[in-house]
Amino acid sequence: MDASEALKRIEALSREIEEHNYNYYVLAQPTISDFSFDMKLKELSELESQFPEYAFDDSPTKRVGGDITKEFATVAHRFPMLSLSNTYSTEEIMDFQQRTNRMLGDSEVEYICELKYDGVAISLTYENGKLVRAVTRGDGSQGDEVSNNARTIRSIPLRLKGNYPDFFEIRGEIFMPHKAFNQLNRIKEEQGDKPFANPRNAAAGSLKLQDSSMVAKRKLDCFLYYVSGNDLPFKTHHESLMAARGWGFKISDHTKSCKSISEIQEFIDHWDKERHNLSFDIDGVVIKINDFHQQEELGFTAKSPRWAIAYKFKAEQVSTRLRYVSYQVGRTGALTPVANLEPVQLAGTTVKRASLHNEDIINKLDLHEKDTVHVEKGGEIIPKIVGVDITQRDDKSEKIRFIRECPECGAQLKKNEGEAAWYCPNEFACPPQIKGRIEHFVGRKAMDISSLGEGKLDILYQKGLIENIDDLYQLKSDELLGIEKSYKDEEEGKERIVRFREKTVQNILDAIEESKKVPFERVLFALGIRHTGETVAKTLAQHFGSIDKLMEASEEDLTNITEIGPKIAESVSEYFGSERNQKIIENLKNAGLKFEIDVIEKKTNTVKPQIEGKKFMVSGIFQNFSRNGIKETIEEAGGINQSSLSSKTDFLVAGDKMGPSKKTKAEKLGITILDENEFINMLEN
Ligand code: IVH
Repeated sequence: MDASEALKRIEALSREIEEHNYNYYVLAQPTISDFSFDMKLKELSELESQFPEYAFDDSPTKRVGGDITKEFATVAHRFPMLSLSNTYSTEEIMDFQQRTNRMLGDSEVEYICELKYDGVAISLTYENGKLVRAVTRGDGSQGDEVSNNARTIRSIPLRLKGNYPDFFEIRGEIFMPHKAFNQLNRIKEEQGDKPFANPRNAAAGSLKLQDSSMVAKRKLDCFLYYVSGNDLPFKTHHESLMAARGWGFKISDHTKSCKSISEIQEFIDHWDKERHNLSFDIDGVVIKINDFHQQEELGFTAKSPRWAIAYKFKAEQVSTRLRYVSYQVGRTGALTPVANLEPVQLAGTTVKRASLHNEDIINKLDLHEKDTVHVEKGGEIIPKIVGVDITQRDDKSEKIRFIRECPECGAQLKKNEGEAAWYCPNEFACPPQIKGRIEHFVGRKAMDISSLGEGKLDILYQKGLIENIDDLYQLKSDELLGIEKSYKDEEEGKERIVRFREKTVQNILDAIEESKKVPFERVLFALGIRHTGETVAKTLAQHFGSIDKLMEASEEDLTNITEIGPKIAESVSEYFGSERNQKIIENLKNAGLKFEIDVIEKKTNTVKPQIEGKKFMVSGIFQNFSRNGIKETIEEAGGINQSSLSSKTDFLVAGDKMGPSKKTKAEKLGITILDENEFINMLEN
């Protein structure tokens, strides 16, 4: 292909790919399969590496990121990015209406009500239909240029459609949808990193990442709400937004034209309730005067336009009395202070407790004994204390001081450099840590020994029958039969009796026996290694294939794995370095738990006619096989392994994370592609 043909093809592919991005991310109506989309993107990316002079900044290949911004340049806004004045009541909206009516000489006013997206404000500049710059609000007159990162946001058009002005700026809000936020925080928690407090912080943090390919993975999104430029051909705000929608921007449907305060109030009331059903956060509504002439007449104050106002929803809040602070010791030894409160109704539930998170939070609140505190339920499930009413404080009341000894075992607490949490270091003798580890081990996502609930475990622990997870596999029915104990259910405040009858005992022993079939990755998760959640355990299991290999790995081997950071590597090494843990694993192995990934080849070891003599190429990661295991299986069944694809290859066995180029090549050569399940079916048939 010569250069001019390449340019044509690059242009055509870019336009086509962007149209698919638009269909998927703006309209939510995809028209092609993910696979065909990936193929087009691949073709474009290959052409761009062959003809780098045509790898333009607005190419859809920029969506996956890759550019690193060491320091974001400070850029002055051509039109200052003002904020809006906030209101919290109908009265204040009426003031706004009267003020503006007065200035407009009582001509009729139409208001456009919009949602107030809770994210990060952004200003996008387009020249001749191309995105040339994305700048954050900063101090309103200058902000950070985050263009490389903004280009990864699929709903932000890189090239516009239709009849757009040569030059304009458009403002909007970059936000993280709930689904992406929850997923990100789950991974962060599993990796031992501090989760983001809310989607707004997550969006702000993501937009400021240096590596744009990381931003691309954060699944940010962007609504636009304000077009600015010189001599734009629109009479109203609404008209400008509808035009912007036509150019390819994501403009919300949730707007309403209102003529009166009561209509505005209706919109506010509707969204105050309905906001909980949206897939992203809003923190209020914005009311704008629609007519541009009227907007011009009203003008701006130093800080904000006079033609618009924000109404902020109230976070539901109440005041109550602090009874006392208690401390919970988790299975990893970390202490969480908990505020125990006089019960109070808040957002439909009775609140008795609020987490205080750590010592720093207590100090920041300057919390004193018996203080009257303001409790708020925001987006978070657990209510939090947002402030103290010091006017209600007794002079003699003492400051709350974080304890220095473990409330459960009396050990001196410790704190790691740079972390806010205090730890009890007495991991093998501190009861909640011991019980916590066993509870985690039997949990549904771990060994799933569900017949052993908290109450029963507590009894077995108190009777001295279990002190470590391996003790579970030594339990005998005659030890268990007849055990009886009453205990207080803290949650329900009721006295309960637990009896180990024959049926109960049999259920427990059956569940323990059944747990021996739990796959290695879950056993690894069940061990409760600090910072090793489900995802990390799965990665480690798949990478090493067995516990023996994992135990041999050095910290360096561990950090060499993409998903494993130094924190995880350190805790994994520390865990397996402990003689006590080595002994536990030895005992669990002897009990028959799975300490290697399930390798199906063990079921084969005979030649299979459907495989014999056939040529296979294996690529990617598999759930049921180690990397070498699948090749050995093929050989044992009489197949031949190839290290690359050729016209002689019969089957490509495709695992996770196989590169798309292999797939294309196999398809071109007419090779049958099997996924893991299809391969297993073939093997078993
Ligand atoms: S209009 C001159 N509309 O709320 C135009 N702002 O304090 C001013 N925001 O900084 C902005 N949703 O980050 C506008 N529908 C919306 C908005 C909105 C969220 C943010 C924006 C602004 C802040 C106002």
